[in-house]
Amino acid sequence: MNILLLGSGGREHALAWKMRVSPLLDNLFIAPGNAGTGLIGKNLNVDPEDFNGVKNAVIKNNIEMVVVGPEVPLVKGITDFFLNDPDLSRVSVIGPSSRGAQLEGSKEFAKQFMVQHKIPTARYLAVTLDTIDEGERFLNTLKSPFVLKADGLAAGKGVLIIDDIDEAKNELQMMLSGKFGKASNTVVIEEFLSGIELSVFVVTDGHSFMMLPEAKDYKRIGEGDSGLNTGGMGAVSPVPFADEDFMNKVEKRIIKPTIEGFKEDGIEYKGFIFFGLIKVEGEPYVIEYNVRLGDPETEVVMPRLQTDVVEVFKAVAAGRLKDLTPKFDPRTAVTVMMVSGGYPGKYEKGKNILGLDHVEGSIVFHAGTTSSNGVVTSGGRVLAVTSLGSSIDEALEKSYRNAEKIQFEKKYYRKDIGFDLK
Ligand code: AMP
Ligand code: GLY
Repeated sequence: MNILLLGSGGREHALAWKMRVSPLLDNLFIAPGNAGTGLIGKNLNVDPEDFNGVKNAVIKNNIEMVVVGPEVPLVKGITDFFLNDPDLSRVSVIGPSSRGAQLEGSKEFAKQFMVQHKIPTARYLAVTLDTIDEGERFLNTLKSPFVLKADGLAAGKGVLIIDDIDEAKNELQMMLSGKFGKASNTVVIEEFLSGIELSVFVVTDGHSFMMLPEAKDYKRIGEGDSGLNTGGMGAVSPVPFADEDFMNKVEKRIIKPTIEGFKEDGIEYKGFIFFGLIKVEGEPYVIEYNVRLGDPETEVVMPRLQTDVVEVFKAVAAGRLKDLTPKFDPRTAVTVMMVSGGYPGKYEKGKNILGLDHVEGSIVFHAGTTSSNGVVTSGGRVLAVTSLGSSIDEALEKSYRNAEKIQFEKKYYRKDIGFDLK
């Protein structure tokens, strides 16, 4: 089978790496990919948001399946585009319909879905400029800190957590007046939940689902979870506090009602669901839905998946996922993200990366790299160094040893990934 994977980050390199070992795969194409995916498949210079460009690449390369990595093409309707085009109807797409993708594309839609299907989540009110007075009254009923979320996609920056109520009211006004463009024309105001977060992943064919390994990511730039939010600085899987009892609650109260909800609401969904959860006094709540895998979580999830991922995708496409039982590596996987100095603020690109061939005992997934007389940096998050071990410490020791060997100007990484789990 010929497969096209859309995206260019560490998540896509990890997916490509896992797909590459499948006997079911013939040719693998990645659009646009990075220097790492270019070593295991053919990178195509096509923008995943240019659906006609994707269509041309699919026809030209005889592609039978498209796996969508990032959320934006899904929210923009790439799956519907394929379903509705007679030239593409034989091509399977791994990724939900645009209605399904609204779970990530609209926080208000996601909250309504959860209330409708009795899925535990924080209390909320969605407001627009016309209903700002109601929003202020709702804020008065909540305790500090106050959570304000832009309804639409805001590249991970649309959530504000504010201690002071006057400041929260002020920010609400600014958001509704266009602080995040159209994405914040509607704002979801939420009760703050205090607990510990984790990411739970499933893949579904719309009827049944398969659990994948859970993971915890480290979003802040600084050690001890300090400083600015990033796309993710590292991850660990499995998550020790996600014990059997807790995961049973997640399955019963969150995953099953979500899949049932799709059926009841007539939502077509063949793809990944990423449940951003928080454990509050032992109980799981949904903080957010994403309609894709996480990054850098995928860089620890794929190395633990022992089942052929292409077989999983074929089962998803054919609607026979219930026939498959996945196998996972029981060892701990960790990943340490090496980033460009200055990230998540301003940083420079085009730095030569040296030492990749000295890496031993870890897998290096490329995130922001490109080939230009060797491998050079092309993004804030550059490389994810993943290792497996019998404990978090044993796995981390390998990743840190290898991260030291890899050189690029102003490289930075957190040296405390997993600090709160040990
Ligand atoms: P989101 O983009 O919805 O994942 O929000 C970004 C981050 O804000 C989450 O990972 C949480 O750390 C935090 N957050 C969002 N909603 C809440 C909430 N209701 N209570 C506490 N923290 C939250
Ligand atoms: N690591 C969080 C995300 O992918 O959204």
